[in-house]
Order: sequence, then structure tokens, then C-alpha cells
Amino acid sequence: MKYSAAEQKSLVEESKNLLKSPDASNEMEATFQIESLRKVIVYHEWKYSIQNAPVISDFEYDHLYKKLEALEKAYPQLLTPNSPTQRVSNDLIDEFKSVNHMIPMLSLDNSYNAEDLKDFDERVRKNTGLSADDPIEYVVEPKYDGGGIALLYENDQLMRAATRGNGIAGEEITLNARAISSVPLNAAFSKMGFSKVELRGEVVIRKDIFDKMNDERAAEGLQLFANPRNTASGGLRMKDPKEVAKRGLVAFLYQIGYAVNEAGENKMMTLENHNNAVSLLGDLGFMVPVEQRKVCKNIEEVSDFCVEWQEKRDTYDYEIDGMVIKVNDLKLQEKCGYTSHHPRWAIAFKFKAKQATSKLVNVEYQIGKIGSITPVAKIEPVSLAGVTVSSISLHNEDFITSKDIRIGDTVLVERAGDVIPYIVKPMEDLRDGSEQVIEFPKACPSCGTTLVRAESEAAWRCDNHYACEAQVLQRMIHHVSKSAMDIDGFGKSIVERFHEMGWLKNVGDIYRLDYDAISKLEGFGARSAKKLEASINKAKQNPIHRFLNSLSVHHLGKKVSKLIAQEITHVQDLKSWTLENFTEIKDVGPVVAENVIAFFENPDNVALLQLMEELGVNMKQTQEDKPKEIAEDAPLRGKTILFTGSLEKMTRKQAQGMAENAGAKNISAISSNLNILVAGAKAGSKLKKAQALGTVDILSEEEFLALVEG
Ligand code: IVH
Repeated sequence: MKYSAAEQKSLVEESKNLLKSPDASNEMEATFQIESLRKVIVYHEWKYSIQNAPVISDFEYDHLYKKLEALEKAYPQLLTPNSPTQRVSNDLIDEFKSVNHMIPMLSLDNSYNAEDLKDFDERVRKNTGLSADDPIEYVVEPKYDGGGIALLYENDQLMRAATRGNGIAGEEITLNARAISSVPLNAAFSKMGFSKVELRGEVVIRKDIFDKMNDERAAEGLQLFANPRNTASGGLRMKDPKEVAKRGLVAFLYQIGYAVNEAGENKMMTLENHNNAVSLLGDLGFMVPVEQRKVCKNIEEVSDFCVEWQEKRDTYDYEIDGMVIKVNDLKLQEKCGYTSHHPRWAIAFKFKAKQATSKLVNVEYQIGKIGSITPVAKIEPVSLAGVTVSSISLHNEDFITSKDIRIGDTVLVERAGDVIPYIVKPMEDLRDGSEQVIEFPKACPSCGTTLVRAESEAAWRCDNHYACEAQVLQRMIHHVSKSAMDIDGFGKSIVERFHEMGWLKNVGDIYRLDYDAISKLEGFGARSAKKLEASINKAKQNPIHRFLNSLSVHHLGKKVSKLIAQEITHVQDLKSWTLENFTEIKDVGPVVAENVIAFFENPDNVALLQLMEELGVNMKQTQEDKPKEIAEDAPLRGKTILFTGSLEKMTRKQAQGMAENAGAKNISAISSNLNILVAGAKAGSKLKKAQALGTVDILSEEEFLALVEG
């Protein structure tokens, strides 16, 4: 750990004092204050980006940062290049210079199963002269799937960063590496007697950040990033370091490749083993794998750990494509030596293939509930990491043209972690001339209406919303779904079946089904029909925020529906709402407002809602729609709360509801803003993080219940 508990306590104290203290009034005072500010800012950056457990608010951090910036501006003679304010450069990179690595960055040999690992162990024994009974320790760690990076520190300062390149020389990307907050600009290698070191690592992006970035890009109609790996490695080669900073990249370090003292003597052996080297990097403030790294006593333990991570790779925040096994003892590593391609003391254990090639047979066009047309590639089924894939979204027309994907192409398909499968590229070398360019349709495949595309959007749309059969069907599927009316037992396939039979022509029909006829259908029977009837009757009583969300109006999602439902007594009130009525509500914008207004301007829609009301669907604001009034004496009034681990007496959802009723706000991550953590059985890293913060009240399930039930 870079900081001891006592050091952390005093750094937090120092931060609070700095926040209160007046700005320095002379150079002497400024020197002290600047030094102190830099020290605490580096600490808070470490808490935030390495430990993922900030101990001050963003606001307080910004305040400290601005204070330092102001002092450095007032006393420019005190500015140093490695001040935290100098991380992200305003300059653009005009060319990436080629630089030689201190020692080559080699590749890794691959293994795929326990047998291959046994062979590797035997080769290590042969190369080092050890017998089958001699113990050999191995370190196993994740094989990160991003962009390789080499960091050069001289006299404790980050001097240079480079991509892996061809292994001998890479591209100099120092300004971009500095923009990655988990890369320390200063690291105390001198305490080990190292004056020049070169580190190896991999730059990656968190899977959830990747998904969020793509969601945002999709909402803006921008081209999506293909996968986390390309987003990370592409990020390293951007011309604008400010853009790099925005990408939320992280650098994991996995090796000290080179370490010399002032006299230029090799000091690697003082580390003794690889695990010490990685631990040292962790202590110096670098991001290193901890729970995902294990020192194993023998090759069987290595195999088990590899298989364990193969199974749970999707639970890790970062994309990994395997594990790397390294002989721990550096002397033994030296004895093993290298081939021209890879070290003989290390091997990658590759997880089951996530990439495969297959033939693109056809493209179908799906029509969404608001009319957007999504091309979907139908491919010959392939198995990817244990899942058979035969349909893959091609997103939009630009995706197809930018990759020049054609029908009949052999395509490279990838399924990365919990990320949905996608086409990496067509294999152009395998074309025989019979492939056909994909002609994006000009008219809606369902209703024939000419498609339109707004300038700012990537999707073509069918604007025939209310008469396009495909959209009507999609809207009904959405209407019954969990996030909308939540009609239990009424899934997509039943909607499709009833639609095909002519029973469901629009959402109104959902509430006038003939349950007698249903009970006679194959696969139904009287009991299932009764159950369905009960679910539908229950849904009729839903609060109106669910009903608003069920209407499939573009941008009228869960959140905005709730905000609007708070302001109306009846759904049809919206008929007379103006743009201002909507935009007066915080977080409701003009775009969704226009869409809702257009919906209610259509007399068919108004009539449909009226019919549904006559069929018993609730249109009046319910207690649940109203803003929650929190009593003065609510036991958790104003508190933030988070549940972790498994709860025994209630579901997580119920617990969150109880907390909300008691005045608390549920939040999803541990931060200094968290007041209460309720830890159920088998609570893991969240509990540890909360304990480390020291400011969170940690309650058991029983204690929580006692508190809210009074
Ligand atoms: S060790 C001489 N360890 O995988 C040692 N590499 O296929 C060679 N990688 O170029 C590398 N995670 O970019 C090592 N824990 C890890 C790694 C790792 C990812 C990448 C690295 C390397 C490639 C080799």
C-alpha cells in the first residue's frame, strides 16, 4: 500500500486545513503551500484512480486543485513540470516519434489447457536443471487486453512513455501517458537505489465506462467504438492529450523490465522475484492486479487459478483475454532465457476463443419501436466463448460502409466478455468476387414508407409510427415489458403469437383479450389463461409513470416519465401541455417535450388512451407517482445508503424500497458521499472499501431493519 493508515489520516487532515487556510501572501509561504497541495492532490488522485475509493468530494478536490493552479500562476518560478496541474498538456502531438525500448518488449508463448501448462513446467525444469520434485513458484496474473505501454522513469520522474510498437521500438506518447490519471508522474524508485527504470504495462478501459461511452455516442448518433481493446489502444495514439484524459483509461503495470543505479549497474536482482517487483509497483502508487494475482506453489495450482479466472472473467471490471504465468524467482528466469520471440520463463494461458470467422449469409432489417432501422447480419452459427452466435447487429449504414462489409464475406466475429458480439472486419483476402455490396433499403421493409435520416443521427427511420405494423408490434412488446407495464408472464413471444393470430392490433387490444379463447390455445390451458388475466388486471392499476413509459415516445423513458407523472393528475392532462410546462421541470428537455406534444396532437392516440381507460387502465396519478414526502423524523432522512452482499430477510429491491421510504437515497458505488453500508452475507470488496474509508456506518441486515422499523 502506498500510504499507511496513519499517513492517510494526516493527509486528509492536511487537506481539510488547506481548504480552510488563506492563500499564501509571499513566496516563502507559497513554496510551503504548493508543496503541501501537490502532496495531498497526488494522494487524492491515488485514492480516486487506483483505489477507486475517494475520501473527499469532487468539489473539495477541485478546490484544492484550483488553489494550486492559482498559486503556480502567481509564482511561476515555483511551477514544475511534474506538478499534478501539468498532467494534461494543452499542446497537440503533431507526430509520434519512434523510440527504442531499453530492452525489447517481447511477446508471449501461448497455452490453452492444463496439459500445455504441464509441458511448460517441464520445459522450465529442463532449462533450469531442476528435477520433477524441486519446487518452482509461479506468479499468475491477468493478461490485459488493451494497448501495451513502456514507461521510463529517471530520478523518480516519468520521462518517457512509448507504445509497444514492434517490440524493439515504439511510438513516443509521453504526453498521452501523462493524461492517464493512474500513471504517477513521480514515483520513489530511488528508495530502492534505482535511478533509471523501464516498466511494462497495458492500458485498458473499464468495461462499464466503455459501455457508457458507447451509449452516449449512440444517443448522439456517433459511430460506436468497436471494443474496449481498440478504444484503449487507439486512445494512446490520439493527437490531443485532453481527449485521452476524457477516455478514462487505466494503466496496469505488470513488469519492471529494466532497473539500474546511478552508476548504470543492473539492480534487478535486488528485487529477487517477480512478485516483489509487482508489489513494489503497487507500493509506489501504480495500478497492479491484487486479487487477480497469485503466487502458486506448483503448476497444478497455476492451472486451477487460470481456470477459475476463465470462469469468472466477466465479473472483472476490465477485459482480459487470458492469464500470464511467470516463473517467480528472477534468477531462475535468467537461467531460462529467451527465444527471439518470447521469454522461456513466461507463458500466456489463453481463454476460450472469443473470436471466430463465419460467413455472412444475409442482412435483415429490424424496425424499432420508434421506427429506427437496425441492420442485423445473419451469419453461419459459430461458437464464441461457449455461446452460439448467429445474429449480429451491424448498428447502422455507416458501420457497414466504413468496414465495407458485404454479403457472402467471411467475417471476423468477436464476443468480448459481457459485451455483445460484433463484426470486427470482413476478411478481404478471402473474397472471390461473388460478394454483394449491402444496399441499405430506401423504404421501410414493413410498411414501404420512404425512410428518413436526420443529419445529426446515424439511424434511418420509418416515420409512419402509428400505421407501420412492425413498429406497432415493437411498441406492444415494449408495453408489456418489465421496464414499462411489467405484465408478468406476457413475454415477447406471446405478443408475437397473438399479433400473428390477429388478436393484438394495437396496445389497446392487450386489455380486451378473450381469455376463453386463450385457454384453448396449445401450450396454455385454463390455469395459464387465468394467470395471464390476473397479471393484466394487476397492470391496469399501475402508477401512470409506468404507463407514460409504455407509450414508446422517443426519449420518454423511465426517468422522464417519473418526473412528468409527478406533475399531472391525469394522463390526458398532457393534451394541453405547452413546451414551457415540460421544460420547467428540471431534467426535462425540449426534444422529449416536442415528442410528447406531437403524440397528444394525434387524435388517434388520444382516442386510444381513452379506450384503454374505458377498458380499466389507470390514467390517474397514484400515490406512487407523487413526489415522496419525507417526514421530518424519518429515520434515514438525508442519508445515502448502499446494500452489498446477499440479504436473507428481503430482496435487494425491497430493502432499497424500505430505505427510500425511511428517507434515504440509494446510491450504487462506494464514495466519500456514502453514509450507510448494509452488509449482507458474503459481502466482498465494497465492504472492504467502506471500512477503508472509515466514514461509513456499516450495518448488518438486522440492524438496518431495526432502524427502519423503529
Ligand atoms: S508479460 C517479457 N504480462 O500481452 C514479458 N504481458 O502477448 C512479456 N500483456 O506484449 C509480456 N498482460 O502487451 C505480460 N500480465 C501481463 C500482460 C501482458 C497483457 C500483453 C503485453 C504483451 C502481450 C504478449
